[in-house]
Amino acid sequence: MLKISVIISALLVLQVALWAGQAQEAPKTPPAEEYKIPPEAANQPNPVKPTAESLAKGKKIYGYDCAMCHGESGDGKGDVEMKGMPDFTNPATLKNRTDGELFYIIRKGKGEMPPEGDRAKPEDLWNLVNYIRSFAKK
Ligand code: HEC
Repeated sequence: MLKISVIISALLVLQVALWAGQAQEAPKTPPAEEYKIPPEAANQPNPVKPTAESLAKGKKIYGYDCAMCHGESGDGKGDVEMKGMPDFTNPATLKNRTDGELFYIIRKGKGEMPPEGDRAKPEDLWNLVNYIRSFAKK
């Protein structure tokens, strides 16, 4: 009888240990190097041309939702100081990103950056993509 209860309590301890291990595994925000964008999202073409109208719409939303972190001019020096802030005025920053990737990042968020989610219509997310690309062209 004693043996059985020892085995049972040993199993219980093991189970709790396993459970605790699992609970520790999933971090809330994955580290930047593990950030994965599905290829079908990355390859999605931008359906919105960077016309003056698109840029004006993008600028408006940017002013409300992005400028406090990314800075009015896109240089990453907004009121909210954060680590790893990209500088959109440097042409190298977004050079290797497709429009589809930028769309995905803005919609889903990245690292410390909150997702725009469904606050903006897809067309406005593309306007934002066009607008942040325009910082490096000035
Ligand atoms: C709370 C501050 C904050 C807000 C608001 C914010 N961002 Fe960000 N953004 C960040 C930070 C921090 C990073 C760097 C994230 C990382 O790489 O881990 C980032 C990264 C990005 C990137 C990725 C650059 C790259 O190539 O990896 C894009 C694009 C971007 N932001 C666009 C936007 C747009 C557009 C908005 C507004 C809709 C916005 N962000 C709102 C903080 C913010």
